[in-house]
Amino acid sequence: MNDEFPLHADICYLNHAAVSPWPKRTQNAVSKFAAQNTEYGATYYLDWLKVEASLRQRLANLIGSPSSADIALSKSTSEALSIIAYGLEWSEGDEIIISNQEFPSNRIVWESLASKGVKLRIADIDDIEHQDAVEAIAAEINENTKLISISSVQYASGLKVDINRLGKICHSKDILYCIDAIQSLGAIDFDINKNHADFVVADGHKWMMGPEGLALLYVKPTIRDTLSIQQYGWHMVEHRGDYTRKTWEPASDATRFECGSPNMLGIHALNASLSLIEDMGIKTIEQQLQSNIAYLIEQLKTLPNVEILSPIKEADRAGIVTFKIAGVDSNKLYSELMQQSVICACRGGGVRFSPHFYTQKHVIDNAIKKVKSLTHT
Ligand SMILES: Cc1ncc(COP(=O)(O)O)c(C=O)c1O
Repeated sequence: MNDEFPLHADICYLNHAAVSPWPKRTQNAVSKFAAQNTEYGATYYLDWLKVEASLRQRLANLIGSPSSADIALSKSTSEALSIIAYGLEWSEGDEIIISNQEFPSNRIVWESLASKGVKLRIADIDDIEHQDAVEAIAAEINENTKLISISSVQYASGLKVDINRLGKICHSKDILYCIDAIQSLGAIDFDINKNHADFVVADGHKWMMGPEGLALLYVKPTIRDTLSIQQYGWHMVEHRGDYTRKTWEPASDATRFECGSPNMLGIHALNASLSLIEDMGIKTIEQQLQSNIAYLIEQLKTLPNVEILSPIKEADRAGIVTFKIAGVDSNKLYSELMQQSVICACRGGGVRFSPHFYTQKHVIDNAIKKVKSLTHT
């Protein structure tokens, strides 16, 4: 697996929750695609369409969707959320529930519906010792609740929400259920058959190890028609390619949400990255990642004055561990770690480390050593 991730030896890469390095096979796929473009233009476009079909199938497999026809390709998680928010029909007084830990993309879009009379309720999921996240969210439900939108894993704390349990609640109460899966797809198992999601959105540049700018948008086929279309063009029609046709209707499959030319470069890259996930198997990836996270937590705990801000229990975490050191400015520590080639992030009041399944123990050891020496602990 090391051959797939020939990261520079000086780098301790612990930032998959932001942007992942590409596997070697993704570099190769992009190089080949670039060479084809340069030497042959779009001569092989029919082959490219096969790669696009393969990507849709891989995304469908990853979320447990029975058909690749349910998969739309979007520009970003944020765009996909906007397609949902502005495709749904809202009435004055409708309510949406999110959590207080959401990344801005999964808050701002819902706040923007205030002009339509839609109210946003924000569940406080910080105190998981006393009330788990699902209970806190469920406590906000009332007869006006139309939709719950939640990140499967919270970007700053790393809290893994029990999306299957929450999905059962939504399903039983006829509430639409939207999952921002960007912090879990490619890292941990995900199955729409268990979580009953109506919508799933996730960009490919984090745990799926692909490029930025190409995201999954899944809309449950039985509600596809109820989402009005906001973007129009040649690509979203049923008879795509019949350019002289004067009448049109939206495509019956999920491509109705894709108005123009596909991001072929991104498609080649993400398809290659997902082939690695397929080869490894998501269950193996999840096990190896959980083992890395357990090791990281164990090592962090050896530091005096450390406060781990992320959940410690395996059931409540995925690939993110955020911590601070008492008396140390987390922003300053983050900058110093970056200067020393520990690639990480500063989130939620602490330093966020996010290894992936392939991260080697010595990378974690090195990062901990650097935290130790920078904080004199
Ligand atoms: C939970 C979550 N949702 C959405 C985003 C933003 O994704 P995009 O840039 O694809 O819109 C991020 C980025 O960090 C995130 O962590």
